[in-house]
Amino acid sequence: MLLPVNEAAPTARSVAASNGLDGLRQLTATIAALETSRTKLITELRRGPAASWAEIGAACGMTRQGAARRWSRPAHASSFGAAADSYRRGRPGYPRSVVEWLVPRQAKTVLDLGAGTGKLTRALADAGLTVTAVEPSRGMRGQLAAAVPGARVLAGSAEKIPLPSASVDAVVVGHAWHWFDPARAVPEVARVLVPGGTLALVWNDRDESEPWMATLGAIMHRQAAQVIDTSPEIGPPFGPPERMETRWRQSASRQEILDMVASRSYVISMPAGEREQLLGEVAELLDEHPDLRGRDEIDLPYVSRCTLVRLAGPHGA
Ligand SMILES: C[S@@+](CC[C@H](N)C(=O)[O-])C[C@H]1O[C@@H](n2cnc3c(N)ncnc32)[C@H](O)[C@@H]1O
Repeated sequence: MLLPVNEAAPTARSVAASNGLDGLRQLTATIAALETSRTKLITELRRGPAASWAEIGAACGMTRQGAARRWSRPAHASSFGAAADSYRRGRPGYPRSVVEWLVPRQAKTVLDLGAGTGKLTRALADAGLTVTAVEPSRGMRGQLAAAVPGARVLAGSAEKIPLPSASVDAVVVGHAWHWFDPARAVPEVARVLVPGGTLALVWNDRDESEPWMATLGAIMHRQAAQVIDTSPEIGPPFGPPERMETRWRQSASRQEILDMVASRSYVISMPAGEREQLLGEVAELLDEHPDLRGRDEIDLPYVSRCTLVRLAGPHGA
């Protein structure tokens, strides 16, 4: 329970003073819990009839820029559950050739980390692998469990994986590594992998070498651009990265393209008016562009960008 502000400081002082290191641990846990509540509240305030970063900053005794820098990432990372349906309908899957590259042939047990609605999980299960999916958002997990009944679905995060040490042969991350805190995620992934195990990352980028995709990208990024490093360095205890890129196409209806746009975290987190304006512009492009006008199904070109790193094997390989 929260203490009134004027009681919290003296209580904190007396806990710390009377209990020494135990008091410090107690205070630290309380501060962490309060910080989690503050992040949750800010995330809620940024949705729907949102508070601006300036208002949030003022309420926290910070500048607008300071508040946005501190909370826009967690607010976006935890936004997906609100649009889980659009995500399932609109986001691309993963071609078989990509899945075969991400998971070494000898691997049997695979962890799909940040599994979302199960787009990659399903492809892994279809390839005959034993899959555990870890996902922090309850909304996304609900879709995932229904879409891939064969997978074990667990609540958790990349920074705190709910699996024992050395329990999986491979970890894969589909379009999610950029949301993780690598300083905590890298050792945590290494912990759950067997010696010689692999970590593979993949991003599906829209292929903007196709002119109408470039126009779509320009509309989507006019208000908010999201720059993602799709060739990240992972570092020790993993070895050097292998990289692979492949181009492919996925057929989508007009509504699925609108859902693909609506399921982007920065679109979910926009004030409602801005989101409607953006989706209106995308609908206009679909209705009027000569390559798209009047078509029920449209081929969306994608580039999958992949990275794979390996732990040293039992014989130091
Ligand atoms: C863009 S979605 C990708 C989902 C899925 N892997 C796919 O390929 O469709 C990113 C997912 O990462 C999850 N996520 C965000 N922060 C995370 C974290 N720290 N640990 C694990 N997952 C996280 C989100 O909830 C979301 O489901």
